[in-house]
Parts: sequence; C-alpha cells; structure tokens
Amino acid sequence: MHYSKISADHLTALRSIVGADHLFTDTTALTDHGHDETEDLQFFPEAVVAPANTAEVAAILQICNAAQIPVTVRGAGTGLAGGALPVAGGLVISMRRFDKIIAIDERNFQVTVEPGVITEHLQNTLKAKGLFYPPDPASRGWSFIGGNVSTNAGGPKAVKYGVVKDHVLNLEVVLPSGEVIWTGANTLKNSTGYNLTQLMVGSEGTLGVITKIVLKLQPHPTHTLLMLAPFRSAESACAAVAAIFQAGVVPSGLEFMERNAIDWAVRYVGETPVPIGPDDAAHLLIEVDGFHPENLYADCETIGKVLENYDCGEIFFADSEAQKTALWQLRRNVGHAVKRNSIYKEEDTVVPRAELPILLKGVKEIGARYGFESVCYGHAGDGNLHVNILKGELSDQFWNEELPNGIREIFTLVKKLGGTISGEHGIGLVQQPYLDIVFGPAEMRLMRGIKQVFDPNGILNPGKVLNL
Ligand code: LAC
Ligand code: ZN
Repeated sequence: MHYSKISADHLTALRSIVGADHLFTDTTALTDHGHDETEDLQFFPEAVVAPANTAEVAAILQICNAAQIPVTVRGAGTGLAGGALPVAGGLVISMRRFDKIIAIDERNFQVTVEPGVITEHLQNTLKAKGLFYPPDPASRGWSFIGGNVSTNAGGPKAVKYGVVKDHVLNLEVVLPSGEVIWTGANTLKNSTGYNLTQLMVGSEGTLGVITKIVLKLQPHPTHTLLMLAPFRSAESACAAVAAIFQAGVVPSGLEFMERNAIDWAVRYVGETPVPIGPDDAAHLLIEVDGFHPENLYADCETIGKVLENYDCGEIFFADSEAQKTALWQLRRNVGHAVKRNSIYKEEDTVVPRAELPILLKGVKEIGARYGFESVCYGHAGDGNLHVNILKGELSDQFWNEELPNGIREIFTLVKKLGGTISGEHGIGLVQQPYLDIVFGPAEMRLMRGIKQVFDPNGILNPGKVLNL
C-alpha cells in the first residue's frame, strides 16, 4: 500500500476541523501517542488530532481517505498487542474527548456511551443506580470503553458474564469514506441481516471508528464472597478449575496465579492480606456473586469440597471489603509487576478450560527447552492463560530470532488443544505473524475481503490484525 505524508495543507485542513488546540505535532505529543503498553515498542505518528464529535471524525477520515494517509485510532493506550501503535506514521486520532456517558436507560437496562469514557468510571456510575456492566479488564481503571470494544476485552468477570461482545447491542461507526452508520439496533434480540455489530467488536480500529456504544446492563449483584486457595502443584490448581463447574457452580471470578506471579505482585503492591506458604506452587482466586448470601455460602462449600480432591491447602476467605480489594489488587497487578521488572512478551493463550493443565505443562516444557522464564496467570475459568515471557538477561538476538519459534510452539499446542492465540488482548501488531497457525487460506481470504469492503484504501490501522 502506498501512503502519503501529512502535508502543511493537510494540517491546515485538520486544524480547521478540530481547532488549533486539538491538533498536535510537537515531539512530546508524537512520542506519547506512539507507544502503548506493549513491550518497549515505540513508533512516531506525524500528527495527532483529538476530535470532539462524530462529525469531526467523519471530516478527518474524508481527508485521510482522499489523501491516502494512515490513521491509527487510539483510546487510552493500554493495549497489550500493539493495536494502537502508528506503525506506518500518519495520523493518530485520540478519542479522549469522547468522554460522555450520553444516556442511561434504566427502563430498558441500557447505556449509550462515548468511547473515551474510562471503563471503571462507567461501571461506578452505573453501580450507583444498581446497574451492572460486568466486563472488567485488569486495565479498567484507566482503559477506555472504546478500546475494550475494539479488542473485545475480557477480565475476571467474563467467566460468568461473558466478554465485551456479549454486552454490545449497537455501535455508531464512521467509515473511512466519512459515512456514519449504526451497526444494529438497541434490542436484546436481532436477527436482521449480517451482524455488523459483532464484526466491529474486536476489529481493533481496522474497519471503522467507533463513536457511540450501546451496552446492555443487568441488575448489580448485591453480595460477593472471595477466597484464595493455595495448591502444592500448579497443574492440580489448573485441574481443579473444570471440576468446579462440573460440581454445578459458576463462579463470578476464577483466576489462576502461579507462584512467581503472586510473588511478583506481592513485591509490587508491597503487602499481602494472606501469608504465602513456602510450598504453595499456585493459587486460585475464586469469587462467587449474587443476591442471596445463603446461596453464595452454599457455593463456597461446594467449591471447598471439590478443591479437597486437588491437593489444596488451607483456603483463605476474605472477610471484609478491604481484604477483597487487597486480593483483587494482587491479581490485577501481576501484569504491572512483571512489566516494571523486565521487558516481556505477553501471550494471551486460551483453550477449552479442561485442557488448561496440559497447556500449562506444555508452556513450561517449551520454556525449559528454549531457555526462557515465564510468569503464568490468568482467567482460568475461561481457559485463558496469560504467559508473560521475561526478557531479563536474554540477548536481543535470542529475543528477536529464536523466541518467536518457541512462541510458535506454544500457539501450535494451543491450537491442537482446541484453543486460539488471543482470548482478550487482540492480534494487533505483535500476534499478527502467528495468525497462520489458527487460520488457513480460506479464512484469511474472507478476512481480507472484509477489510477491503470496509476500508478499500487501507488507511485504517495499517499492519494490524492482517498483514495489510
Ligand atoms: C490481566 C490482563 C493482562 O488479566 O489481561 O491481568
Ligand atoms: Zn487478562
């Protein structure tokens, strides 16, 4: 694809759309908008704009489409697959001024929101009205809801409530042509034509720019119980996961942390509400939620009985909100803890949950063979294992040339187990070389065709998801 540079005339046109205060070409802005949370990757756009509304986005896209200027749409920049990196230069569109919760429809249990609202702020605003939007990625305190939609984000609650796609009803989208569409309807059911809504969810800014989001809501559960269960073997912790469901309980969180994950997190957070025993090889953090405490106690009793069969140590029950918060803090900070200590590659493997023990064993075996250390943790109830591969003292040559073969082996195992290469972070830039493991020529042809229909000039997020 041949792209144009942004000229002085283009800048004048863009400035007249967004105003001089919302167009940036200074080094600081170009640096800040050239990286996300992915490894240590940094690229530089030629300019950054921060439009205020749909009409401005449409006008910007018309200019870029006509001039063949690459456009990378950016939320809060918390992505872990490089989806927001402007690898071809061009223009970054920051969605940060799209920060309004437009309407909360309490009668229909829906909210219409702009993409630049921080997910946790949205959740807290809804919770104050007794409403629940469940998807809660670890980044929810700073990631934008638009980025969550663009990556089809997940998080701990997904095990009971589903991922972002299960909550999106309708989207306003600006196409590269500047046309503005709604993808669906504000209904719980919709059998009307192809499902453009679900096509946009997880499309990582490659098909259009999302400017409004309609989400479905539910009543907010009034009670939660949380327990931390230690295991002497990481594989038996993983094996216990499927057994919990087989016993008839669907937890609202079922997280796995191997020993080094919890150690990193404890060091990073600086305290732990529960001592970690010397023989603890892994932990499961298990939450149940609902409206009737007696049901939750019964669920915990069932879970406790199941875990007895998996060489589980003494289970710690959080008995205050402060303890619950502290335990979730630990879990949510594993990624940060690792990032602070080493450059790392974040693999987002997902398999059918009963295959988790085989996956974990395989990851460790591959790591030992190649000579890399990994920190494994994640949403065990979804079979979603985050594998953080640490760079540490490894050479650049190993990191860039040999490690991809090891990652390929991990992903090949994932595929063999019936899984896929990203559960919730997306393909973005860094997982794109591995797509051939999960898709053959026919699937790739269809995906390229879809891209071509939405974005015939290839201006939207070039080099992401597909190698276009
Ligand atoms: C987590 C992020 C990395 O689960 O997805 O912590
Ligand atoms: Zn995660």
